[in-house]
Order: sequence, then C-alpha cells, then structure tokens
Amino acid sequence: MGRGTRAVIDLAAMRHNMERVRRHAPHSKVLGVVKADAYGHGLLPVARALAPSSDALGVATFEEGMALKRADLQRPVLLMEGVFNPEQLQAAAEYGLSLVVHQPWQLSMLLEARLPQPVTVWLKVDTGMHRLGMAEHGCALFWQQLQASDNVREVVLMSHLACADEPEHPLNQQQGERFQHLKAAVAARQASLANSAALLDRADFQHEWVRPGLMLYGASPFAGRSAAELGLLPAMHLQSRIISRSMVAAGESVGYGATWTATRATDVAVVAIGYGDGYPRHLGLQAQVLIQGQRCPVVGRVSMDMITVDVSALPGAGPNTPVTLWGPGLPVEDVARWANTVNYELLCQVTGRVERHYQDAGAL
Ligand SMILES: Cc1ncc(COP(=O)(O)O)c(C=O)c1O
Repeated sequence: MGRGTRAVIDLAAMRHNMERVRRHAPHSKVLGVVKADAYGHGLLPVARALAPSSDALGVATFEEGMALKRADLQRPVLLMEGVFNPEQLQAAAEYGLSLVVHQPWQLSMLLEARLPQPVTVWLKVDTGMHRLGMAEHGCALFWQQLQASDNVREVVLMSHLACADEPEHPLNQQQGERFQHLKAAVAARQASLANSAALLDRADFQHEWVRPGLMLYGASPFAGRSAAELGLLPAMHLQSRIISRSMVAAGESVGYGATWTATRATDVAVVAIGYGDGYPRHLGLQAQVLIQGQRCPVVGRVSMDMITVDVSALPGAGPNTPVTLWGPGLPVEDVARWANTVNYELLCQVTGRVERHYQDAGAL
C-alpha cells in the first residue's frame, strides 16, 4: 500500500469542458491554454486529450512548446511569451512553433533573422493591463512590418484583459473598445482577447480566437459563480487516505504551534497530504475535506506531509479511508477561499511527488 496521495485527472471531463467552450463561442477558434504543466494537470496527457478538439495550444515556455512539438499533436503551438533569444527563434521556426511578439526587441530579432521557414506571429498589444504588450501607438507600424516580412506567415492581433473575472469592472469595457479600435485600424482578420472569464461573459470579446485555460480544467473564473453553475466538470480530484485515527481529550491541542484545542473529546484522523504536496498551509478556520461523502473540518496546522481532521461524525472512518481534498463534491474554489487564494494557484502548485493518474471514461 502506497501513501495514497494522488491527483486523478479526468480527461473526459476536460473534453466536456471544451464542449462548453465551443457552445459559448461557436464562431471562434479555440487556443487551449496548457501552460504551467496544463495548470498542474500534466502537459502531455492533457494536450493529447484536448488537441483533437482545439485549433491550437498555448504554453508559456519554450521547453513546453518543444515538448508539445515532439509529441506531434498536429496542432499549432503558441509560445505565449514568445522567444527569449535568437537560438530559440531559430528552433521555433524550424519546429513550426507560433510566437507571441510583445516587445520591440522581439520584433527586431524576428525581422532581422534568417529563418528556415516563416512563423505565425501573435502581436500582443497592451490595451490597459500594463503587463506584457506593445504600446498601442506603435501597433500599426509593427503590424505593417510584420506583414511585410518574409519571416512571417500570418499575424494575429492579441491582447489580455486585467479584470475579466470581475465583469462589472470598467476596465473591461475600456480594453475591449481599445482592442476593437486597433483591430479596425490595422484591418486584422484574426484577433484574440478573451480568456475563460471573458469568453463566458462577453460574447462581444470573442473575436476570431478565444484562449480558455481555467475553464478547461473545470474551475470557475468568477468568485460568485460556481463551476457547476457554468456547466463545468472538475478535471482534478486530489485525494489521499487516513493513516491514523485517535481520540483527543477535551483541553488537549493538536499539531504544530498547538493552535487548535479540543473543546470536547474529538476523534482526529491524520490524512497523508500536506504543503509538501501543494495542499495550502494557510487555511482559514472553515477549511474542510470530504470523507465518506461528508465534509469534515481540518483542525490544527497543515504540516509538510500531513493534515489533521475532525472525524467524530464518522465512526467508520479509519486507516485507509479515502479523503477528497478537492474535486467532485468539494470544489477547488471552496479550498481557495479558505486559503485566501485563487483556484489557479492551488491547481498549479500540486507538487511533483503527487502522482497523476489519468482516467478517460470516454475512451474506454
Ligand atoms: C495571455 C493569456 N491568455 C489566456 C490565458 C488563459 O486564462 P484563463 O485561465 O483565465 O482562461 C492566460 C492565462 O493566464 C494568459 O496569460
């Protein structure tokens, strides 16, 4: 018997979530965002599952882009931060990776290079997020230079929204209008603005390409709307097992720092997961796990390899009983709220020692 700490990844759920994307954005092509090891779900298995229903895949690093190319998925792969040096540019061209260009130095490098074949470029403009992107005023010139270059096959105009997860935020409208204006000014035939939140909430932001990440993994980008309400199925089921159970007498404390004290005789189970696995250490007092279909409170501090849980309500729970940390029945959004963070971070930070197991009901 192993430790039992694992993340079961449901590839059929991911394909279902891709169908939701298609239903929300029926007129757009879909770039499935699989960066950061597919948001912690495992780059290659996820990319293989999603490639047939995606028009392209997006990653942040050159290494992830090359891994996808080597897997020969027959889909364009976009480097969402572009290349960082001339060697990467040559290799990207040779392997047929598409590139974001977000800075004048990247543009010069591309225009001056001798490439084995032309590349597809996504020209990223800054419409108000002020993170990556060319300044708006230079956009028309950059666009023309790219169009005129023998190194460039085609150009897609793109920008990224700062507040898409807050639909009422005025910056959304501003960025949307600026983007529309730039698109018209350069007469772009292909443009892309929307991440998950925007494609769900703003049909007018969908343009020719949408770029969903989070919703493909069955998580909600909105604080006030659950993934279930959005028709999404969680792709990751983070699980472990109880490894011991004992009774803690009233007045005794549990765990590092003795931060929790039993007010009555309490059955406390130790579960084999901790911050060394990516379970968040900073949890509020409401934090719960799911055991035998019931939510049980986490008590005391999260340790590196273990957590402690009040299982007084579950007389049948003991060593080996499975525990859900998040997944079906316990949305990762709830855990993110208790940990005062976002679901993105929790999914991405599941560590390498947690084995990923893939299940694919649709493929059986
Ligand atoms: C440029 C860009 N597009 C799309 C996405 C996907 O966003 P989301 O996961 O919110 O759908 C990201 C993710 O951070 C991104 O950086």
